[in-house]
Order: sequence, then C-alpha cells, then structure tokens
Amino acid sequence: MGTAATDRRIDKLISVLVKNATVVLPGPKIASQIGVTRSTVWNYVGKLRALGVDIQGHTSSGYQLRTLPDILAPSLIQPELGDNEIGRKIIHYFKIDSTSNVALAMATQGAPEGTVVLAEEQTAGRGRFGRKWHSEKSSGIYSSIILRPKLSPADAPAITLMAGLAVHRALTAATGLTFDIRWPNDLMVHGKKVSGILTEMSAELGCLHHVVLGIGVNVNHKSIPADLASIATSLGIEGKRNYSRAQILVSVLKELEKHYTLLKEKGNAPILRAWAEASTYAEGKTVRVRTGNEDFEAVTAGLDPTGMLRIRREDGREESLFSGEITEVNR
Ligand code: BTN
Repeated sequence: MGTAATDRRIDKLISVLVKNATVVLPGPKIASQIGVTRSTVWNYVGKLRALGVDIQGHTSSGYQLRTLPDILAPSLIQPELGDNEIGRKIIHYFKIDSTSNVALAMATQGAPEGTVVLAEEQTAGRGRFGRKWHSEKSSGIYSSIILRPKLSPADAPAITLMAGLAVHRALTAATGLTFDIRWPNDLMVHGKKVSGILTEMSAELGCLHHVVLGIGVNVNHKSIPADLASIATSLGIEGKRNYSRAQILVSVLKELEKHYTLLKEKGNAPILRAWAEASTYAEGKTVRVRTGNEDFEAVTAGLDPTGMLRIRREDGREESLFSGEITEVNR
C-alpha cells in the first residue's frame, strides 16, 4: 500500500464490516453502500487482509468479519470521541514516513487545532535528539496532534509535561499497569520506556503558531529489537496480553483534551502539581543528565513554575533544565 492517506472508502468498508460483524454481507450490497464496484470491494478486502484483518468470503458468497480489526480507522475512532475537539479531523495512513512530518506540513497549511494524523506503520519514525522511533506495523500507536494554543513559547515545557501527564492517565486507565513519567514525558513501566512524545513547534518571538505533539506508544510488540531491549518495552510484554490500540488511542485523545483544557483555563500550576505527583523523577532521584554539551550526575529537585526540571549538581549548585535527557542512576 502506498503512502497516500487511506481512501475514505476503505475506511467506510471497515466500518460497514464492523457494524455487520455477525452477518455475511453480499458483495453488491457493500459495493453500493460505499459507492464502488464489486471488484473494487474485492481489491479493498485484499488490502485489509494483507494488514491481518480476518475477512471470510468472496465476491460471489459475500463477506464477513471473523474478528474485529484493531485498525486505527477514523470510522472506528471518531464515534468514540463524542464532542472531543481533538480528533474531530483524523487523517489515517497505512504507511507513512512520519506522522509528525505530515502534521507539521498540514499545520503550516492551516489545518485546524485538534487534527490528528495516524499511521499503522512509519518508515522514518522520529524520536527526540534525532533518534529513530521503532514503528513496527500495526503493533504501536503512531499519532501526531496539531494544537494551536494561545500561549507563549515560554509555555512550551508545560505543554510537553501536559501531554506526558495525559498519556500517563490514559495508559493507566486502559491497562491497569503502573506507570512512571521520566522528565519530560517518557512513560515508563518497570524501568523501561513504553511511550515517548516529540513536541515540535513553530513560533516567533512571543507567539506560538502551532505545536505538533508526536506520540508513540509500544502497544502489542511481542519483542523489542535487541539494541533497545534493555531500555524499552511494550504494554503487551508487561501486561502479558494484547491491548486494543483503538481503545488506548481514544483514551489518549480524551485525556489530552481534558488536560489541554485545564492548562488553557487554569495555567501551569495544576498540571505541574499533578505531573510531580505522578513522577518519581520529580524530586530526590539521582540521575545522569545529558545535554547538548554536558554529561553529569545530579539529584532532581522539583519543577520550576514553567515546567523546567530543577537539578542539584554534586557540588551543590542548583539549576533548571530546559531540555536534555535524564536517566536513573542505579547504584
Ligand atoms: C521520544 O524520543 O521519546 C519521542 C518519540 C516520538 C515518536 C512519535 S510516533 C508518532 C510521531 N511521529 C514520529 O515520527 N515521531 C512521533
């Protein structure tokens, strides 16, 4: 399948099959419902089968879904979102280089706040510090969300922490596992990372044009590539079961809306307070700090009012960390 956004009619086919999951649907009926020919339905069914969707039947006999597909199809996600502004517009790809590339381009062209770009697979998923983000087909959630906050660039750290907190709430509710947040917004289970967020923005002096939150969650990965296995894991590995990516995504988008609204209405303080309660990294943890040009050990000492992490160096000096990477030091 190419790198064009998913044809709305394939999306419609998925929703028609899901809504009629208990019956065999004649090919011509499906064809007329989604407005294509019978042979196109056959072609779409082939594409969905290639993605692991279990559809029984043939043009002559009709089609039936054998198991509900765990595809992040807009037609399956949107009805669950109620009046959420985040997710009112969803663009879905089976395969794309990076959902954040698409979202950044769409944001520049004026896409509305709350637009969500999703993919089943990324060929050039990006992480923080120019790293690659492992984006295996149909195992994870690869999503990028466009926000247009009427805030200043100085509020960027709080937006980043808000997103991490929202994902923390969503994953906790959806899985019952226990998560930690490593500053600024890595979601950790049993000391390993399951989700990361890349915040990218376009801003001018004093004015934030748009923010793209790129959220990746390792959901049903059965194994993690050897070079990452000591630092990363998936919800499936930790929970010893498969999770519905669609359900988790819905939960993430709802929690994002809730926490984003809280940030806009009440400012940084409630978000930062909740973040610090949810993270063992907020205070008193010995960490290795890596910034662009330094690498040292320090102890965390709370968040400052803008969301920067306070750290105390071994010589007692305290400072605020704006960006950079921290990892726990185990002695
Ligand atoms: C990190 O380094 O922790 C951030 C990882 C962010 C990955 C997500 S997956 C969806 C979006 N598209 C990308 O290319 N990256 C982000």
